[in-house]
Amino acid sequence: MKTFYVTTPIFYANTLPHLGHLYVMIVADAIARQKRQQGIETFFLTGTDEHGINIERAAKLAGRTPKEQADYVVSYFKKMTAEFGLDAEHGGFDIFMRTSEPFHYQGVSEFWRRAAAAKTPKGNDAIYKGHYEGWFCAACAEYKTEDEYAKPKVEGEPPTCLIHETLLDRISEESYFFRLSDYAESLLSLYESRADFVRPESRNNEVTSFVRGGLQDLAVSRLRTAVSWGVPVPNDPAHTMYVWFDALINYITAIGFGNEERERMAGFEKFWPALHIVGKDILRFHAVFWPAFLMAAGVDQPRGIVAHGMWVDPSGRKMSKTLGNTVELDVLNRHFPIDAIRYFCLRDMVFGHDGKFSYEALIDRTNSDLASGLGNLSSRTLTMISRYCDGIVPSPVISEDKLLLAKRSGVDTDETTISGFIELARDQFLQQFESLAFSRSLEIAWSIVARIDKMISDAKPWELAKDENQKQTLSAVLYRAAESLRWLCVMLYPIMPTATLEIWSQLGQGDSDSPSPAKSDPAKLKWGELSPGKAIGEVRPLFPRIDKGKTMAEINGEKQEQAAGAGGRSERKTEAGSPHSQHAVNAQHESGQGVHATEADAVPASANASETKPAPPMQHATEADAVPGAIGVTSFIDITDFTKVDLRVGEVLTAERIPKADKLLLLTVDIGEEKPRQILAGIAQYYEPEQLLRRKIAVVANLKPRKLRGYESQGMLLAASVGDEGKPVIATFTEEVPNGAKLK
Ligand code: MSP
Repeated sequence: MKTFYVTTPIFYANTLPHLGHLYVMIVADAIARQKRQQGIETFFLTGTDEHGINIERAAKLAGRTPKEQADYVVSYFKKMTAEFGLDAEHGGFDIFMRTSEPFHYQGVSEFWRRAAAAKTPKGNDAIYKGHYEGWFCAACAEYKTEDEYAKPKVEGEPPTCLIHETLLDRISEESYFFRLSDYAESLLSLYESRADFVRPESRNNEVTSFVRGGLQDLAVSRLRTAVSWGVPVPNDPAHTMYVWFDALINYITAIGFGNEERERMAGFEKFWPALHIVGKDILRFHAVFWPAFLMAAGVDQPRGIVAHGMWVDPSGRKMSKTLGNTVELDVLNRHFPIDAIRYFCLRDMVFGHDGKFSYEALIDRTNSDLASGLGNLSSRTLTMISRYCDGIVPSPVISEDKLLLAKRSGVDTDETTISGFIELARDQFLQQFESLAFSRSLEIAWSIVARIDKMISDAKPWELAKDENQKQTLSAVLYRAAESLRWLCVMLYPIMPTATLEIWSQLGQGDSDSPSPAKSDPAKLKWGELSPGKAIGEVRPLFPRIDKGKTMAEINGEKQEQAAGAGGRSERKTEAGSPHSQHAVNAQHESGQGVHATEADAVPASANASETKPAPPMQHATEADAVPGAIGVTSFIDITDFTKVDLRVGEVLTAERIPKADKLLLLTVDIGEEKPRQILAGIAQYYEPEQLLRRKIAVVANLKPRKLRGYESQGMLLAASVGDEGKPVIATFTEEVPNGAKLK
């Protein structure tokens, strides 16, 4: 039996899942489902990458052990996969791999031993001991070269990671190195001999030119004293393996490399090599480092490496927890059918390119392609079968004596016109899907929807139904529509498993002998295999139209509510059973105060925080906030935490009171941007508006906007909180300072 192995990256266990993680899982899931349809025994891996300094730091901040931290994040990933139908129970992944598993340690150690005993193609030791000094980004978990960081503006300060915009750590330590520099020629001949090793082609060129540019040896261990949470280096427990070395190897340990029990359960021999689906952000690790590691350990190369683009925010920045601009899964889950999200992800993102995400676009797509498109085609076809054919799949046959009549009504009596069109579209659909052009493949599938819709509108079954003599013509038209729907179910099952199975059962196929779309090979579909005479099922709407205005208002309202909850002491409603909101609730519980516990938080609130007093109030205030609590010293934060806060010098241009809100002032503040910001501050009981005019203040510029009393507050001003009543005293500058200057 043929086998196929597909993987997603294993995700860092320091952040909660978001749309980016969901996206790559959907892609891999759709590929796996299509392979299974083809009768290929498929193994689909996803999981978490649980070692390294990042996890250690996140755990420390949360007052957990690294393993507890990983367990915590994994529980969210598992909830996400269950909720979005991606787990084994729903026909999704076969293993949720965790690098903290003992069998992984065993396999990785075996891999290291093999690589350490190997010679490079140039006859040198593949792994050697040396010293490393360099700039290390904890968030990327990699050392950065000069072109990968921004030089400091102030001499003596560390440079900044270009991806995360956080400060780098200077690290100098004894380290094991992988002699990557000796593998350049072998890698280049690998790319040359296998044109499809890295896809899409543009990414192949990128990788090739990177390798041509020369490779440096790679530090593959850290001293245990620096990073203790990792796999120990065999025979040298003073070192732990570099997290990427350990993480990449998961793809083979998961199926049994170095562990007989796993080999029996999954089968390295059976499934390797894998197709790796990864984001373009981690292409180099997969297309350069990983193949070189495999060469050293004497393991076959993967089937291929496929790099997808990133979901970016409206300003074009990659969605990530570190930047706090992610699309949250509980919002998606609450407002959209899972299949609409799956469809949107594959249809809207041109695979390999970046895609801008917006809820509006998701609503538009759902309404146009699913509610008005596939959903409408399905319900109009089935409703007509139910109305005009007593709910029985009609016969496609138009007898000789009725052909002329049919022609007269404008219906093409030659069924092959439609079936030929659909067969061709199916072939093109599969071809595009195979080459990972999901968006194009779906466009082609929707040409079938449009074609059948047009066939129905042209034939006007409601008119044919009025003429007893046209009964066969009517039946033939409805049969063609129903048969096309059957084809669409099989073709689209990998993309929309729930909706297609629903149409399938509405077509009366659910309990029939015909195999379910999950087990039908779309390439083997034959026109006419829908048996006439079968009763269709109950007709139910598939994709109800989404009211854009209402849904957007709800989503925005939730965002504001969340921001309000994050900013202070106000109540927030949370959706029971939603893991994301639950997380926020936990964070608030743990901290005992209104921490900035947004669902976008990379790290849950510190457990220590419960022992601390409320932090000084920040004047991005609800009215309740206007009377601040006592001053308290909070637990330590990292410099990287601090750099997340964008503090700017602002100048108050206008200040006024807000009717019926006796604690709030409405300010406009120039922070050096094109337009001044509107900021609400809970200081009206202590400051007259005029006192503030032209005053230079400190503003938190990257706080999520929120609405209070109908006014949007686009930032927060800083003030000391004095005395028991918490009287605010606005932070200001005594020297000349330009608007927009950064505070750091
Ligand atoms: N742990 C490493 C991978 C090790 S694989 C041996 C890692 N983890 S990650 O949590 O950062 O996940 C990275 C992957 O998540 C990306 O390569 C991509 O597949 C997916 N995405 C994360 N953010 C994304 C977007 N904004 N958009 C699309 N996918 C994104 O790197």
